[in-house]
Amino acid sequence: MKTLLHNLQGTITAREPGPGEAVTIRPDVAILIDEGRIAAIDDPGVLRNAHPDARLLDGRGGWALPGLVDPHTHPVFFRTRESEFRMRVQGKSYEEIAAAGGGIRNSARAFREASWDDIVERTYHRIRPFLSFGTTTIEAKSGYALDVAGELLSLRVLKKMQELLPITIVPTFLGAHEVPDDYQDNRDGYVDLVVNEMIPQVAEEQLAVFCDVFCEEHVFTVAQSERILMAALDHGLKPKVHADELAYTGGAELAGRVGAISAEHLVKTSPEGIAAMAAAGVVPVLLPGTTFFLQKSGYAPARAMLDAGLAVALSTDFNPGSCMTQNQQLIMTIAALYMGVTPQEAFRAVTVNSAKAIGLEDTAGVLAPGRAADIAVMAIPNLDYLPYHFGINHARLVIRHGEVVHDASL
Ligand code: NIG
Ligand code: FE
Repeated sequence: MKTLLHNLQGTITAREPGPGEAVTIRPDVAILIDEGRIAAIDDPGVLRNAHPDARLLDGRGGWALPGLVDPHTHPVFFRTRESEFRMRVQGKSYEEIAAAGGGIRNSARAFREASWDDIVERTYHRIRPFLSFGTTTIEAKSGYALDVAGELLSLRVLKKMQELLPITIVPTFLGAHEVPDDYQDNRDGYVDLVVNEMIPQVAEEQLAVFCDVFCEEHVFTVAQSERILMAALDHGLKPKVHADELAYTGGAELAGRVGAISAEHLVKTSPEGIAAMAAAGVVPVLLPGTTFFLQKSGYAPARAMLDAGLAVALSTDFNPGSCMTQNQQLIMTIAALYMGVTPQEAFRAVTVNSAKAIGLEDTAGVLAPGRAADIAVMAIPNLDYLPYHFGINHARLVIRHGEVVHDASL
């Protein structure tokens, strides 16, 4: 059965990943959906005459955008960390809290008390809101268990989520998210565990597409990160890197060296790091919501990356410590205001460029015939308005593989 999404202002989409403002706006068109895919984008009258049996779906006067793509999320954890938020409000820094055993280690301690059902239930309710904000594809990481059984469980939970929720989930193994309590005096011992036990089992069970590592001062050194990512490559997992977030360590250069698909955060990245990413075709995934939420003053050098020709992507970084939001629309606002990214560049960064950051540039993030019918209908008069009117949700109707998965009027 075909569906005709009509009563739209029109469609807004980028055509291919890259820097710049190239966005195609087609007013007064409707979208014909067949078998979960876009069959045609054309004049509403023409489509209606040609397909009189199509079921009509009312776009309520909004603009149809591609379903947003969020290329960096951490939704698999047990307890939330609002107590640390309160400490930060009262003047403690994120780094001080982590050094005192809080942060990711705090999450890992809590994870050990949780059952499979606990994690399934919590993760479900954390992923569901992405759809309501118009995000139809997410990358999702493990990394809050920091032991073999818990990291495998986290990825199995993501597999379960893919059965339960109408959202596309690309799983990433992030066992090297932090060094857990019991390895504080034997940090290389934890790297051994990741390399010798976790990565082979993740690969064997085909639980992840990517392997990520938190390459950062006081977490994993560049040498340790490289060892982990090379082991991942040996097992068919493609590298990603959390790089240069809180301090410059050369993480972007590492991403270039190992041929990572993307490098994330990049707040303190050097010009050499940008050049290394450009030379190796690494997609920079910027997370300005994290800079904002951690009360930091300097944002990632997005303009320098765009000027270097890089296809900058944006993500929420949804996680319990450094950015507790599923809202990519809000991230566009922060990127525009604090990184000098235009609304058009921000739009490309949450659609086609973020699809490229997770290897889905041929399937997600673009409205075109033949593509999956993943569509976010936004109640906005124009694209500039999307990041401008902030703190609300503009998504009116969200469609994934041709089915309505969120309807704001219900
Ligand atoms: O991407 N940087 C490392 N990991 C997360 C934060 C994790 C946490 O605080 O729970 C991030 O910001
Ligand atoms: Fe992250």
